[in-house]
Amino acid sequence: MISANNVTLRFGKSALFEDVNIKFTEGNCYGIIGANGAGKSTFLRILAGEQETTKGDVTITPGQRLSFLKQDHFKYNDFTVLDTVIMGNQRLYDIMKEKEAIYMKEDFTDEDGIKAAELEGEFATMNGWEAESDAATLLNGLGVDTEYHYMLVKDIKDSLKVKVLLAQALFGNPDILLLDEPTNHLDLDAIAWLEEFLINFDNTVIVVSHDRYFLNKVCTHIADIDYAKIQLYAGNYDFWYESSQLMIRQMKEANRKKEEKIKELQEFIQRFSANASKSKQATSRKRALEKIQLDEIRPSSRKYPYIDFRPSREIGNEVLTVEHLSKTIDGVKVLDDISFILGRQDKVAFVGSNELAKTTLFQILAGEMEPDEGSYKWGITTSQAYFAKDNNDIFKEEITITDWLTQFSEIKDATYVRGFLGRMLFPGDAGVKMLPVLSGGERVRVQLSMMMIKATNVLIIDEPTNHLDMESITALNNALIKFPGVILFSCHDHQFVQTTANRIMEIYQGKLIDKITTYDEYLANDAEARKRMIQQ
Ligand SMILES: Nc1ncnc2c1ncn2[C@@H]1O[C@H](COP(=O)(O)OP(=O)(O)OP(=O)(O)O)[C@@H](O)[C@H]1O
Ligand SMILES: [Mg+2]
Repeated sequence: MISANNVTLRFGKSALFEDVNIKFTEGNCYGIIGANGAGKSTFLRILAGEQETTKGDVTITPGQRLSFLKQDHFKYNDFTVLDTVIMGNQRLYDIMKEKEAIYMKEDFTDEDGIKAAELEGEFATMNGWEAESDAATLLNGLGVDTEYHYMLVKDIKDSLKVKVLLAQALFGNPDILLLDEPTNHLDLDAIAWLEEFLINFDNTVIVVSHDRYFLNKVCTHIADIDYAKIQLYAGNYDFWYESSQLMIRQMKEANRKKEEKIKELQEFIQRFSANASKSKQATSRKRALEKIQLDEIRPSSRKYPYIDFRPSREIGNEVLTVEHLSKTIDGVKVLDDISFILGRQDKVAFVGSNELAKTTLFQILAGEMEPDEGSYKWGITTSQAYFAKDNNDIFKEEITITDWLTQFSEIKDATYVRGFLGRMLFPGDAGVKMLPVLSGGERVRVQLSMMMIKATNVLIIDEPTNHLDMESITALNNALIKFPGVILFSCHDHQFVQTTANRIMEIYQGKLIDKITTYDEYLANDAEARKRMIQQ
């Protein structure tokens, strides 16, 4: 069991949490929900003991072990895949490394012998001999084949990296498992595997997600973060949604009745307070009136950002010509002789399971990478803004949001820039926040603000929805439907692709498939495409 007791956390003036009391018990899976920036990741960090509170504390049943999958999936290192997984049990990993170091010593002393024996003992009680095979089993279950197990994490594909980090969190059967947006960057097979795993997991799971379908599948409880408080509901996401809507309806109905009563009492008082024979009744009604209190209805504070991409100039007829582009990455030809021409109305969704191919093509077209062969030419009237999937480097910089954005604005005026930020739900002094403290969704909103402020007529967008809450996804989706320029994008959200794209491109084994059609028609007409999607 893990519980938060009177937890309060303030950053400067604003309170992220105010006197939060909540208990998480064995056998349950808790879904933590809330708008971007509500404090979900921070709350997990508090539970894990990585974030100090202003007041209050966290208690864990003594002897229980906690493990944590962070939201930032691009944090990888120079360890092998297998070692990374075993590191999920830090003590076990430390023992293994300490043992190794002792055995490597040339001048092995008696003291070393004693130390080694101690470590061996602890290692054995922790089932250390099974560690490698347990780690390998987890990896294989998630679809990370044996050939990758001894490679360095930085050398494997992004989609595999997430799985390695997930295996790390799951390793060694932790008593308390914290997962922050685990389904971001996971393919459908791996999500299905994770769902099964969590359903069968006997200990405590606390998972943050914006994925409704996933929450419905795995959660026994929902904890909603809003107004610096956490409300706990039994049931899955749909049940939470229904019951919170019902509560609001009931409160409204109760308030309506109270208002009627107030009106009735007020009328009586007005009519009869001057009337001597009725003045006693009027006074008692006055007292009754004072007692009636309306319930304060506080529906969710979730808000829609105002996203609107307005090109500063209209796009001409020549947009983009791509000729014979090829690129090999780590020995794999991810782009193989790609050619296409874009028209001024094109909103192209890049689909298919090869993330690397899509990202590589976007990087080349955004001028961030050189192709091995071939060329591309943007039309003279075009200007491009690029939304990178991996934004880790941008947000390392210790600079305020306003200063960072001003670089991309033609008008270097702080009030003008703050206007954009206000619409993107960074009100008042939020603009002085430093980039590294921003939440996952806030980072995406800052990147989108950059694209708005650049006012280009071409948008290149690589997986924008991963960290966004549902309100922001809807706002972005509508903005792209309305956008009068050209879009090249990739996105995991089926509905988003279906409503935005009028042309579908798929890079399959390096080659381009290009169809002027909607996504649903593309899938319906092409049985093979459908099969590839399902494999995704
Ligand atoms: N050290 C800090 N100083 C100031 N503000 C901070 C700091 N750390 C976090 N914040 C702010 O606290 C808020 C909560 O951040 P958190 O990452 O917990 O949000 P989240 O609910 O996980 O959002 P998302 O859904 O976008 O991942 C954000 O507005 C963030 O900018
Ligand atoms: Mg978060």
